[in-house]
Amino acid sequence: MSGRAKPRYDKDGLTVHSDPNSLRRVTKALRGSGRRVTLVPTMGALHEGHRELMRRARSIPGSTTVVSLFVNPRQFGPTEDFDRYPRAFDADVEMCREEGVELVFAPDVDTMYPPGFATSIDPGPLGGELEGAVRPGHFAGMLTVVNKLFAIVAPDVAFFGEKDYQQLTLIRRMVRDLDIDVHIVGVPTVREEDGLARSSRNAYLDDVGRRASIAISAALAAGQYAGEQGPAAVVAAARGVLEAEAALDVEYVELRDPELGPTPEIGPARLLIAARAGKTRLIDNAAVSVVRRETGLSG
Ligand code: PAJ
Repeated sequence: MSGRAKPRYDKDGLTVHSDPNSLRRVTKALRGSGRRVTLVPTMGALHEGHRELMRRARSIPGSTTVVSLFVNPRQFGPTEDFDRYPRAFDADVEMCREEGVELVFAPDVDTMYPPGFATSIDPGPLGGELEGAVRPGHFAGMLTVVNKLFAIVAPDVAFFGEKDYQQLTLIRRMVRDLDIDVHIVGVPTVREEDGLARSSRNAYLDDVGRRASIAISAALAAGQYAGEQGPAAVVAAARGVLEAEAALDVEYVELRDPELGPTPEIGPARLLIAARAGKTRLIDNAAVSVVRRETGLSG
């Protein structure tokens, strides 16, 4: 354990655990007494999106909710923002308390990854696409920590945001492929009034970037509307909106099937966007219904 031990709270019915074994004993006893255990994994710097996940978790009858606060170094690349990722431990615990969360898990990095730690989860081919193409190793690090959290907490139900749709898809696949006994709930994206998806990284945006960021949700809406004209029109409509915003650099605009396989010709689909406003990467996505095959005029 590092010398920088987190303050241990135990007030108003909320306990912060930093030791996996002490939390494991508590969740095991809860299950033994017939309660269900729900889990909301986070990296802290909690906002209204995280709050919505907690509310969904708290709404399960007869359940006790664990929120984890852990900025997971293994899902950040060497040039990414691990060191400057926002940290707000006291405010985070306060939001958990407001939402009636009883258990917070806030381990140290050395506790999660002691010397000699070597195992990781391979996300398969989807782990190298979309976000994975830009962030090598990100999804292996993410799945590894989520798997550890499942092993420590052994939740009956775990909640993840659709905001990170590829993450949610990969977690569902891991649970299926590795026979993990947990029910995964996907929660719709919580947005600012102007449409920007809530994100801890929005704090990095300057005024220009913040104004430009609105084009991302506008592009998703344009794509949804173009579903009547076929899949290529969806991508073209979204790209058109993004490219009209000079302060955004588009990384990808892709239409995939709902499990993130190839673009469907018709039927339910997911439109995914990544763009940079200055140095800040923003991602967003939305469901699209493709109601007609390509008209033959566009490619
Ligand atoms: P973090 O970015 O803190 O997000 C924690 C959870 O909140 C994720 O499931 C994410 O999809 C969800 N979330 C974020 N913004 C949201 C929004 N605007 N609306 C709804 N849900 C939102 O995602 C991670 O942490 C990490 O990868 C983690 C899963 C904790 C593993 O380290």
